[in-house]
Amino acid sequence: MIKSITVDKSKCIHCGMCIRDCILQCINFDSEKIPCYIENGDKICVGCQHCMAICPKGALSFGGKNPDESDATGYGDSEDLLRLIKSRRSVRFFQKQDIPREKLSEIIDMLAFPPKGGNVDSLHFSIVGTVEKMRAIEKFTYETIQAISAASPVIEFCRDNYNKGVDFIYRGAPSMVAVSVNKEKAIAGCENVDPIIALSYLELYAQSLGLGTLWSDVALSVANELPEVKALLKIPEGYELNFIMLLGVPAIKYKRTVQREPANVRIV
Ligand SMILES: Cc1cc2nc3c(=O)[nH]c(=O)nc-3n(C[C@H](O)[C@H](O)[C@H](O)COP(=O)(O)O)c2cc1C
Repeated sequence: MIKSITVDKSKCIHCGMCIRDCILQCINFDSEKIPCYIENGDKICVGCQHCMAICPKGALSFGGKNPDESDATGYGDSEDLLRLIKSRRSVRFFQKQDIPREKLSEIIDMLAFPPKGGNVDSLHFSIVGTVEKMRAIEKFTYETIQAISAASPVIEFCRDNYNKGVDFIYRGAPSMVAVSVNKEKAIAGCENVDPIIALSYLELYAQSLGLGTLWSDVALSVANELPEVKALLKIPEGYELNFIMLLGVPAIKYKRTVQREPANVRIV
């Protein structure tokens, strides 16, 4: 990330909103009342870009980015969003087709936006993007599992079911996303939170694109138990697998939402 602040003096109205919204107070006015980094401000700055996002005149550029190229803020309808949240289901039946490339690209673009503690990018996403690759991983996983003599309960469970024709690990999904985290880089206390936030955003966005998802702690356990399976995810050195989400075009359609009991909430 390039950390720099440049201001178009002809547009700046000296309102100071960028200064007030800077979480780490690394911006102030210079002698001409133009916002700039304070001394060593670039070292303190986490690159959240609030300064650029809040500027009412589009006068401030962060990292050389053109503020006019940012998308307009706002969203459609809160009822629509709630319907999406309620309509989301764990999908366990997928069409045997690759996810359309453009949808995968949209998901990849989206992954830059979920919040991360301290705005530190400590995540890595390994995406298996085709049916062919997924089936190769499935084949290798079950061959490995069949060869284990003293298996753990999870492995035993997966093996028994596979022998009965049910794949509890990958569910025939054409894609999966494995998120891993570099715990050295991540802000302390956020290392197990950032990955889950990213997958939560991914899950909802995928459903809005007509795709289905499944959080798979079974796939996670299997990958963690079988290093040769985990190796297929090509997780970079220094990164630790955090979770796996299956992804694909659903082969089922839910007609209605579920009806949940109210959440356990106390307003204090
Ligand atoms: C962290 C997490 C792990 C999960 N792991 C699995 C899994 O390994 N296999 C599976 O079939 N479902 C898994 N699920 C799906 C849950 O069983 C599912 O969310 C729950 O039954 C409610 O159904 P819904 O997601 O359709 O509302 C997981 C869900 C979460 C949030």
